[in-house]
Amino acid sequence: MIQLLNSNGAFLSSDDTLIQDACTRAGIHIGVWSLEDLAHVEGDAILASNDVQALALEAVKTPLGELKSRFGYQYEDIVGLTPQTPNLDGILNAFRPEHHHEDDEVRVILHGAGIFGFVPPVGDAFELVVQKGDWIVVPAMTRHYFYLTDAQTIIALRVFKESPKWEAIY
Ligand code: LAC
Ligand code: NI
Repeated sequence: MIQLLNSNGAFLSSDDTLIQDACTRAGIHIGVWSLEDLAHVEGDAILASNDVQALALEAVKTPLGELKSRFGYQYEDIVGLTPQTPNLDGILNAFRPEHHHEDDEVRVILHGAGIFGFVPPVGDAFELVVQKGDWIVVPAMTRHYFYLTDAQTIIALRVFKESPKWEAIY
């Protein structure tokens, strides 16, 4: 379930209406998938091999197909950050400053959690905690930043228009 934080990372609300209002101001899209079918590929194990990732993708085939056709996406892969990820701090330092991308940034959280921050043109800046089952579409050119919770673990499905295009423009 998505949680709304203020721009200092303090909890504000998990009320759907408040969260949706904030997302509308920032021009982002959110939603939630039931990941029951993913129970057999739980946790960090998703990252272990291509075979497990293929199983995970198979398990989410229906909602993934809907998301891809709704926004016109063609490509997906699975990525993860954990305390074992080589150069985790370097990677996190690259996502922490405000940036945008030339393609939409789409993440469906399969395990763990992450925090996206936004400074919309109107109203207060805010952050969103996304965790298992939550998805977020940050449209191309939308300024945002990202960091992890104390658990420093996130595994996410990424979806792109064509091929992966995730260069951060600061
Ligand atoms: C990224 C994030 C996490 O650019 O904002 O991949
Ligand atoms: Ni980004």
